[in-house]
Amino acid sequence: MTQSVLYTGGAGRMGTVLREGLSGEFGRVVLYLRETVTEVFEREEVINGELHDLDGLADAMRGVDVVVHLAGIADEASWDDILTSNIEGTYAVFEAARRAGVRRVVYAGSHHVVGFYPASERVGTEHPVRPDSYYGVSKVFGEGLARLYHDKWGLEVVCLRIGCFRPEPEDVRQLSAWLSHRDGVELVRRSVLAPDVGFTIVYGVSANTRGWWDNREAAASIAYVPRDDAEAYADRFSPDDPPPTVHGGAFADEAYRGGVW
Ligand SMILES: NC(=O)c1ccc[n+]([C@@H]2O[C@H](COP(=O)([O-])OP(=O)(O)OC[C@H]3O[C@@H](n4cnc5c(N)ncnc54)[C@H](O)[C@@H]3O)[C@@H](O)[C@H]2O)c1
Repeated sequence: MTQSVLYTGGAGRMGTVLREGLSGEFGRVVLYLRETVTEVFEREEVINGELHDLDGLADAMRGVDVVVHLAGIADEASWDDILTSNIEGTYAVFEAARRAGVRRVVYAGSHHVVGFYPASERVGTEHPVRPDSYYGVSKVFGEGLARLYHDKWGLEVVCLRIGCFRPEPEDVRQLSAWLSHRDGVELVRRSVLAPDVGFTIVYGVSANTRGWWDNREAAASIAYVPRDDAEAYADRFSPDDPPPTVHGGAFADEAYRGGVW
């Protein structure tokens, strides 16, 4: 109960589910937001600000132990938008954390850093990245920046390569990539509370029978053990549905410009 946590992007789709699921588990919770939030949970305080406001971010982080960095564009978008929110915004978060003396950043990365791997191939965190989009490239940048801040300034970082965080899988690809809400809450709980994480990259995925990602690192470094399996929903999809060809699905298509979540 001693942990003090700051969320960026806490009013988004993931943030809303995570904050409710973890409500009451941390001593103090700061929401650094650019929008108004409809529901404020136990012990939460709101600070309004933009991601690029480094001074404002650093002020908001004073006395905070762990930053959970969720804010950003969560889809493919124009290079300019990705640059502003996901690259410059993520730099501001890590730099503000360093200046404020934050101990750990939990970084919401994405499986789209390996989105161009063929669906026939299983990958771990030691495989070279194969981003499928500008979005995926921005998440590669985030992992690189995280490594720099760990190696140079000793910041602890857990990089989460999040799959598809949904109440239920929505298509055949998500039978491999699904992260249930229950497992996602546990993933972030472990990322905040696990002792001595150093620098670690883990996949944010449930225990899917058709899973593509070797996630032994997650069990070893943060003791994350998922409980849900997308296979329980497999009969919802027709055997005629085309199987995924690559891990990233439509993000890898040349024509994909971002879609509906
Ligand atoms: N939802 C998923 O399945 C999924 C999968 C992989 C990775 N992720 C990552 O997890 C994080 C959260 O995803 P989400 O689905 O909740 O996204 P979301 O779009 O619902 O929420 C993102 C939040 O970030 C804020 N934001 C964006 N740019 C900002 C800026 N420049 N300054 C301040 N705030 C800004 C938005 O206002 C919003 O509240 C994102 O970083 C996303 O890339 C999500």
